[in-house]
Amino acid sequence: EKGNHRHFMEKEIHEQPIVVAQTLGAYLDPLAETVGLPPCDFDLAAITRIQIVACGTALLAGHVASYWLESLARIPVAIENASEFRYREPVCGPDALLLVISQSGETADTLAALRHARAAGQKVAAVVNVPSSTMAREADLLLPTHAGPEIGVASTKAFTCQLAVLAAFAVALARLRGTIDAEAEAAHVRMLTEAPAAMNAALALEAPIQALAQPLSRAQDILYIGRGPDFPMALEGALKLKEISYIHAEGYAAGELKHGPIALVDEHMPVIVIAPSGPRFEKTISNMAEVMARGGQVVLISDAAGLAAQAAGTMAAIEVPQVPSFIQPLVMAVPVQLLAYHVALAKGTDVDQPRNLAKSVTVE
Ligand code: M6R
Repeated sequence: EKGNHRHFMEKEIHEQPIVVAQTLGAYLDPLAETVGLPPCDFDLAAITRIQIVACGTALLAGHVASYWLESLARIPVAIENASEFRYREPVCGPDALLLVISQSGETADTLAALRHARAAGQKVAAVVNVPSSTMAREADLLLPTHAGPEIGVASTKAFTCQLAVLAAFAVALARLRGTIDAEAEAAHVRMLTEAPAAMNAALALEAPIQALAQPLSRAQDILYIGRGPDFPMALEGALKLKEISYIHAEGYAAGELKHGPIALVDEHMPVIVIAPSGPRFEKTISNMAEVMARGGQVVLISDAAGLAAQAAGTMAAIEVPQVPSFIQPLVMAVPVQLLAYHVALAKGTDVDQPRNLAKSVTVE
């Protein structure tokens, strides 16, 4: 059932505009321009802090969401790997919400965190793709993604559907807490409604990305950098690339580069710079200039305004559609996934079943 796609991963990347629209459809009322959440038996408005726990790509969706939850709902957010959560003594309580995120709903470490928090009397919300899963059953508030079955081991459409749900959740929570008004809610609903079409436009980047795949596939190591929500996107780009192409890759906050990793940069080190135009652009571009000054080969992923300002001297420039920064991560995910996919194709690895990995990690 791959249709005319070579791999499930490719099919799932291409399905994203549709499944993200489906997922948003479960939360947004486009006519009233409001966000609705499924019913739950506790008072969400009384929550004063959120702990996000997940693994891998789901954790990175949570990392992106932390920016939305803080800026819109003004709620403090802590993020932890599910595998490390148990080694803390989390300060649970009825005013705190544990937010778990999982495609499968069965990841052992994430499930253990859910059970730990519930046993301590804390409420748990779960963003889950498989409706019949254990996490979906055990959560106090189920926030489903509607990505449909994800077969490729590399998470793609589940990730963007998680982002869609988390963005809608942040807006809903902000309204409940009174940190945004109805007008701002409507504006955010309109932005989210634009996301699937912009993601569709981003799929057209396949050809320029494919052209980059051969040279990048010869690299030993690749760095990804970004700032703000582009930092978790850099982490996601590196995770996806190492997972399916077996090229060593790391994501860094752009500003961290000069605190160590820039020592690695030479003419053999490609650096993927994720820098859409906007308030963070100039600073990331100055980090990019530091890389280029040391001979680093830069691939700049930005929008038309960003590339018009700064594409000179790069190895390649990838132009993503220009969208409001709120929905940028949903759109940015597409080139990041396509890059990993095409580099893996160029290397000839088993894209859908990468070595040593399982789709669902049910041991701790
Ligand atoms: O089923 P889950 O979302 O809980 O799985 C979490 C991670 O194992 C998963 O996202 C993993 O990192 C992916 N293979 C990344 O592409």
